[in-house]
Amino acid sequence: MKKAEKKSLFSELERLRLEVLRHRDLYDLKSKPEITDAEYDALKARVDDLERLLGVDEELFNVSHLVGAKPSKAFKKIMHRVPMLSLDNAFKDEDVIKFYDRVKRSLGVDQEVELAVEPKIDGLSLAVIYKNGELDYAVTRGDGRTGEDVTRNVAYVHGVPRFLEGENIPEVFEVRGEVFLTKEDFLRLNKNMIKRKKKPFANPRNAASGSLRQKDASVTRDRNLRFFAYNVGYASAAVATRHSETVALMRSWGVATAPEFCLCKDIYAALDVYHHIETIRSDLSFDIDGVVYKVDRVDWQQQLGQVARSPRWALAHKFPAEKAQTTLVEIDIQVGRTGKLTPVARLEPVSVGGVTVTNATLHNADEIARLGVRPGDRVLIQRAGDVIPQILKNLTPEVVRLPYRFPTHCPKCKSEAVREEGEVDIRCTGGLICPAQRVERLRHFVSRGAMDIEGLGLRQIDEFFRDELIHGPADIYRLTDKQLRARKKKGEVWAANLVGAISASKNRPLDRFLYALGIRHIGEVTARDLARRYSSWANFDSKVVELVERRSLVEMELESYLLENRFEEHDQLKRRLGKELAEIIDTTGVGPEVATAIADFFREPHNRKVVDDLFAVGVRPADVVWEVKESSVTGMTIVFTGSLELGSREQAKAQAEALGAKAAGSVSKKTDIVVAGPGAGSNLTKAIELGIRVMNETEWQSIVAGASS
Ligand code: IVH
Repeated sequence: MKKAEKKSLFSELERLRLEVLRHRDLYDLKSKPEITDAEYDALKARVDDLERLLGVDEELFNVSHLVGAKPSKAFKKIMHRVPMLSLDNAFKDEDVIKFYDRVKRSLGVDQEVELAVEPKIDGLSLAVIYKNGELDYAVTRGDGRTGEDVTRNVAYVHGVPRFLEGENIPEVFEVRGEVFLTKEDFLRLNKNMIKRKKKPFANPRNAASGSLRQKDASVTRDRNLRFFAYNVGYASAAVATRHSETVALMRSWGVATAPEFCLCKDIYAALDVYHHIETIRSDLSFDIDGVVYKVDRVDWQQQLGQVARSPRWALAHKFPAEKAQTTLVEIDIQVGRTGKLTPVARLEPVSVGGVTVTNATLHNADEIARLGVRPGDRVLIQRAGDVIPQILKNLTPEVVRLPYRFPTHCPKCKSEAVREEGEVDIRCTGGLICPAQRVERLRHFVSRGAMDIEGLGLRQIDEFFRDELIHGPADIYRLTDKQLRARKKKGEVWAANLVGAISASKNRPLDRFLYALGIRHIGEVTARDLARRYSSWANFDSKVVELVERRSLVEMELESYLLENRFEEHDQLKRRLGKELAEIIDTTGVGPEVATAIADFFREPHNRKVVDDLFAVGVRPADVVWEVKESSVTGMTIVFTGSLELGSREQAKAQAEALGAKAAGSVSKKTDIVVAGPGAGSNLTKAIELGIRVMNETEWQSIVAGASS
């Protein structure tokens, strides 16, 4: 088949598929069919024919370049050419105005700044890469740096054309946008799940994500996913000078974009659009959780750059949370990885803004007391975007009654549950004898940001733990093919794949390994800071030895203060110790609290043993080498001084390091550049004395933006 013919058949297919959906909804939901049953059947038959003719089912795309892209295998990971960012949020109009003022100030302009306004769809983001106008591959957002290859599935997403058609299409063009389900398709899908005795999806976003990430692409086909493009991820040649033009161009090339797109002359016009969209929100066919404002001029976007993970030229303005009333049926106590007891409210199912809510978090004992709730009470709840539903207020009239009593013992291991001094949380004291804590640690260990063991899900961990196949993390690496095959109906392929996935995780990078250990206060970001600072496990471990030694030296002293009730001196020493430990670990973003947590963790022999056991079974975290972008400041020493208004100092330092520069604390002869904000003091004076180059924050940001474009 000639390419031109193929292209036109693909556009016919795309159009007819949407027609089928429209007629199905007219018939099913509105009972107002516009065509006869026979015409509908003929339409569907043509879609089937086209799919067969184009080979959509068998050989979706030319996937030969995607090693291991067979549908039955796990999704291949693909690194994004440009990281996929997220958006900064605002809820109040005044914060939106502040954003606008900040934009104007940073750009140094007096004129109004035109803004594009788009609905913020609550789905999942997807990058679709076209080469010479033909769909090449599609990747989910993943963690922003690496996503999953969903090329096969995307063939069934409406709004993603197989070919781009039109003028001036760059050779390589990456469209980014949101994949979602309409409200109706979401409800229909959930009804179906319930009918088939399967667990319904909690919200349209989960449903969209679950539907796209299907190993069997024919399941995706039946889900009616849709796509709206909202940005360009990468283009081998400049596309347009304005975001609004880019959107119009993408639309003209056949990519679906949200019909509610609007260009506004200033922030006040943009806010009007927000309030208008808020009023028509329930009439839209898809769920939105706010709008997105974007600076329209692309050169200004580049000038503004980004902070941490979000661009400074865009803002999500969220709608207020939706509320509903229901009954609190029960209070369950969950035991977390660190022994923390978290109360969870089990609610009578209630629909809040189209999503069925059955649970809400109660945070801790203080929150239960503040709300004065007990099982049986009527409560007011709210759901805001991805936030877990919350109980806002107890609606039950006040009567004299006993308050809810928070358990004094762990519900899982019956150890005493205590509240540490100065803490709100109540913790189980069982440590590793508590099965709940042990299983939570294991769950954390294999999770996505940690060792990311594909196919070893939470349910499997629970089962293996319950059946005593695994006790600690190292046992995971001792699981054998035979053991797995013996216990599952799933078969050989499953067992072999799982053993393969487990083994493949042995060399995860150092940051993931550090995060996987589950040290208190070490989240993914801090783990990355540590890995960036120490590169290898051996380097990090030698520092740990120092930390533990320092910590042990004062142990007796600390204990004696406690025994003699000299609390003030105890606390003083602890604070001093924290500071010293932070100096030893000497890592940006790691303060006394985190340094103490690291020392506390490795002082415990059982934690040391976990690490030793992991090494004994062959786990070797890979060294982390941070990619440094060559730039005009590579190799220089930079001092940030005064208050930075466009981002935090930590972020500025991280930006400098990413460009191969060293960020120092004070000015010396070795300093090459001083970035000075308002209120800069002696550092600035010294820089001027020494004749060092001084710049303001905007200039600095344009260097950063220049290096990343
Ligand atoms: S722009 C660099 N525009 O919201 C800009 N995002 O909270 C990044 N989203 O991950 C995104 N509608 O999945 C943009 N019109 C829109 C959007 C949108 C929904 C999602 C997207 C992103 C998340 C950020």
